[in-house]
Amino acid sequence: MRLVLASDEQKVERDVVNYPAWGPPLTVAGFIEREKRLRGHPWSRAELKTWLLCEEEGGVLASCETYRMDSFLRAPDGALVQGDNFAIASVFTEERLRGRGYATRLLGLLAAELERASPRVHTALLFSDVGAPLYRRSGYQETPAWDWRFTPEPGEPAALVDRLLPDTEVSAAHARMRRPEAPFFYWPTAPQVDWHIERERIYAELMPRPRPETNGAMAGASTALWYMMGRTSTLMVLMLDARTAEETAALLGAARRVAHRAGLSQVVLWEEPSMASLVAQVPGGTRELREGSLPMLRPLRPGLPSLEATPIPRALWV
Ligand SMILES: CC(C)(COP(=O)(O)OP(=O)(O)OC[C@H]1O[C@@H](n2cnc3c(N)ncnc32)[C@H](O)[C@@H]1OP(=O)(O)O)[C@@H](O)C(=O)NCCC(=O)NCCS
Repeated sequence: MRLVLASDEQKVERDVVNYPAWGPPLTVAGFIEREKRLRGHPWSRAELKTWLLCEEEGGVLASCETYRMDSFLRAPDGALVQGDNFAIASVFTEERLRGRGYATRLLGLLAAELERASPRVHTALLFSDVGAPLYRRSGYQETPAWDWRFTPEPGEPAALVDRLLPDTEVSAAHARMRRPEAPFFYWPTAPQVDWHIERERIYAELMPRPRPETNGAMAGASTALWYMMGRTSTLMVLMLDARTAEETAALLGAARRVAHRAGLSQVVLWEEPSMASLVAQVPGGTRELREGSLPMLRPLRPGLPSLEATPIPRALWV
């Protein structure tokens, strides 16, 4: 068995095979269109690779994708050393081939290849929808995953914040966001954030349903960025730089009002250690253990600090 990079033709073949797992409620044609557009997005063009586990005769046994992301390790003198994290997505084995260890083999060969090919690699990251045991076998450890959930509320979104952000202003707002103080962290780029908003654009067209009027807000020094998950009727916070309890409440209030106007059924925020106590002070939120999208990390070099408390904003999800 060997690991190979998929050709453009093989990528589309995998789209068809993957459809039952990630396609509905889109049609097959809609899903192929979604994948084509997402692959054409500038962030994907720069960072996405599709990997195949092949038998010697060339038949495909399993597949997945990697997106390279920026990671930062704090040196003893406080300086940040930039490296690479590879987020793994769309791990897939066709039903007829399951239970023979192909996904585990794919992940093992992939980790070895990433270690070999990237001298500055730090970690691999994935978001499990099938629990932890499968990926623990491949050296991944889960991190705590809590969601804050808010109901939409009526009202004028702009009333609570200094500025609402259309998608054209997200990049400038992202530039002012404060990086985590953790000893090791990931920092999503503005094009990476826009890749999520591209998903919103695609689902809005294909479902079809209207887009929310904005993709974020600023209140004082605090900033929130969000996008609509059309499939689950959710306004999902991608990144939150929360400086005070008042500003946090204002931003989440704006998100709730934007969600209400867009006819969405909830606002969801992935908790990070630095913001947890501020979000807990916002009235009306409920904190729940996350179902699905369980972040799991695997170090790909020695000497990293404990990864358990690594902040994982939703913007890292792939
Ligand atoms: C998950 C998946 C990739 C596993 O592929 P595979 O080649 O069969 O994996 P392996 O043979 O290496 O490992 C199989 C193990 O995965 C476990 N597993 C597979 N699907 C699972 C699920 N939905 N929930 C929990 N465990 C699951 C099996 O129980 C098995 O464990 P066992 O050996 O203790 O019985 C495959 O089932 C698949 O493509 N599923 C649909 C897409 C998907 O959900 N991908 C994962 C997204 S995070």
